[in-house]
Amino acid sequence: MHAMESINRKAWTSALAGYAKAAGIMDQGEARASALALAACPRPAILDLGVGGGRTAGLLAPRAGRYVGIDYLPDMVERARRNHPRLDFRQADARDLSVFASGSFDVVVFSCNGIDSVDPEGRAAVMREVGRVLRPGGVFVFSSFHREWNGFPDRRSLRRLIFTPDPIRLGARTLRFLEGRLVGALRVRRLAALERRDDEHAVLLHWAHDFGLFVYATTPDRCAAQLAAAGFEAPEVFAPNGRDIGAEADADDEYHHYLARRRLPS
Ligand SMILES: C[S@@+](CC[C@H](N)C(=O)[O-])C[C@H]1O[C@@H](n2cnc3c(N)ncnc32)[C@H](O)[C@@H]1O
Repeated sequence: MHAMESINRKAWTSALAGYAKAAGIMDQGEARASALALAACPRPAILDLGVGGGRTAGLLAPRAGRYVGIDYLPDMVERARRNHPRLDFRQADARDLSVFASGSFDVVVFSCNGIDSVDPEGRAAVMREVGRVLRPGGVFVFSSFHREWNGFPDRRSLRRLIFTPDPIRLGARTLRFLEGRLVGALRVRRLAALERRDDEHAVLLHWAHDFGLFVYATTPDRCAAQLAAAGFEAPEVFAPNGRDIGAEADADDEYHHYLARRRLPS
């Protein structure tokens, strides 16, 4: 198992408060993929993987006939329950959905690139399990990092210092910003050797949580092949700004949104 497993669990745990506050749609690509998935089936049974503090629960549950959110971290499940006390949240790992019957969901969601936080074997297990719990024709909506994103080799950090006229707040923000930059630089020095990139798989250090996260990154072509192996049709793929990705993905796209339908029996 790649060291990413323990590193990423630490990153999520240290960012609990942020995920507990997250609300609303992530971007136009997510809006487009979700709208298409929800239009495909009225009042669908939805399984929301890696639900975190429940950001997507607020968006999806009102449209669902049945809604279940899972996360492998008990503290995330507790935050989601606090944010949405009437909804069904459980602690479970997306690589093993054996608590759910085959064909029992119309839509499965793994938002905010959550599928990328497991290693290559784990990713294949997630896709297999999602294919099993979806009914034939059901849809899997998720986002995944783009391995050709030009920010990976640049070690680009999207952490920003946001100006405020309040001098005390500005001082505190500046200190946090500089601390984050320093921690990030030290992590890159320590962890970069664990990156892996071959023809099929790329596991790369990502700027989130001050380079405290390893992500699986792929291309639309490779991802389509992985989905096909797990029993899905060719996916629709959208950029963060909502545009369709044809054969040519853009190196400025940090990640893509995917909508993949489980194949009907022939
Ligand atoms: C980037 S956060 C996204 C949270 C939420 N979906 C959102 O969009 O705000 C990813 C979440 O996936 C969870 N996660 C990662 N791998 C998982 C796995 N194998 N099974 C279940 N949850 C997982 C993490 O604990 C974390 O809460």
